[in-house]
This record gives sequence, structure tokens and C-alpha cells, in this order.
Amino acid sequence: MKKVVILISSRGSNMQSLLNAKLPCRITAVISNRADAQGLEIAKTYGIATAVVPHKNYADRASFDVALAEEIDRHAPDVIVLAGFMRILTAGFVERYRGKLINIHPSLLPAYTGINTHERALQDGVKIHGCTVHFVTPTLDVGPIIIQAAVPVLHDDTADSLAARVLHEEHRIYAQAIRWICLEQVWLNKEGRVAISCFEQPGTPLISPGLD
Ligand code: GRF
Repeated sequence: MKKVVILISSRGSNMQSLLNAKLPCRITAVISNRADAQGLEIAKTYGIATAVVPHKNYADRASFDVALAEEIDRHAPDVIVLAGFMRILTAGFVERYRGKLINIHPSLLPAYTGINTHERALQDGVKIHGCTVHFVTPTLDVGPIIIQAAVPVLHDDTADSLAARVLHEEHRIYAQAIRWICLEQVWLNKEGRVAISCFEQPGTPLISPGLD
């Protein structure tokens, strides 16, 4: 059974959805760069080991990433899940974990990399928004895509209401992606593309605002 480490920075709702999902893996630790991350307390209630590597204790990104990698490697994970982990990682760190590092991003990548995705989607007036699970590569929010969920943007949406609709789907697709990876049904191939096996790809179109 694969071993998984989850990295968080705050609330931890994606982490909690993974802990609830009865995944075919062993979640061996939750690590945060902030001691006050609420998700750490949640992880403890599930009996999961927690650790804090405070980024503020390190002079630069490279030395923080070395300390973070040391903590991660103590658990010898097969998969490292970024679940609201709000630190930009160095290329060296990302390459060390090639094919093992997974992220969720609250937009339909490649649209809206970076922060404030819901505000920017509303500003642009898009009618469909969503979330993406992808393998992490050195460029922020640009790695090979594993799964996406699309949601309609409603005429009276605020950033908060849109964020809530997207978050609901984040919790569904992240568990699905990690399940596939743990079962070796999805992996990053030598060419750097997502390879898949053994599952149907039905999918339904989403039209927003919808047809009469
Ligand atoms: C999520 O929207 C995730 O996509 C983004 O940060 C948020 C974290 O939320 N990267 P939570 O900590 O999982 O509740």
C-alpha cells in the first residue's frame, strides 16, 4: 500500500476530505509550514502524525525546502499531496519528487494560475469555472493535468459563493485523483505526460447558463 504525506498551510478541508475518503493508501503524516494551521488539529483527531516546518525560520526558499524535504523523507512517502500548501517550491525540490508531487488549484488551468482565482474569473465574466488536480512541475500551476471539475458561474455569484461551489468539487476530484495514483492507474510518464489505464471516461457536458 502506498504511503502518502499531505502538506497544508491553513484550513485543511481538502486534507480532511482525503482522510475521509477511505483511500487505498496509508496517510502517514500531515506537515504544515505554519504552526497555527487549523488542519493540524483536524489531522490529530484522525490519529495522523503531524509536523511543522516553519518557513519563517529559514533565510530563503532553498533552505526551507531542504528542511521540508528532510521532514518529508522521514516518512518515506510514495506520494506527496499539496492541499492548500501556500509556498512556492524551488525547482530542486520539485525535481527531487518528480511524479510524486500532486497539487490542487482552484481554477480550470491553464486559466488563472496564481492567487485570487475566483475574483479574477468573476471579473472576466466567464460562465464556467472550476478546479484542477495536476502533477507539480517547476513552473507554478503548470504541471500535467490529471482531472478537472467545471462548475457554472451564476449571475449573482460573489467570490465566496463561487469558491464554495468550486471547493465542493475540489473535495471530490482530489480523492479521485489520489485513488488513481495509489492504484497506479494514473502516473507521470517518461515524456512528462499523464498516462492513464483501466477506467472509463464518460463525462457530461456543462453548458452555462444552460439551454432553454
Ligand atoms: C483550496 O481552494 C485549494 O485549491 C487551494 O487552497 C485552498 C485550500 O483549502 N490551493 P483547504 O485548506 O484545503 O480547505
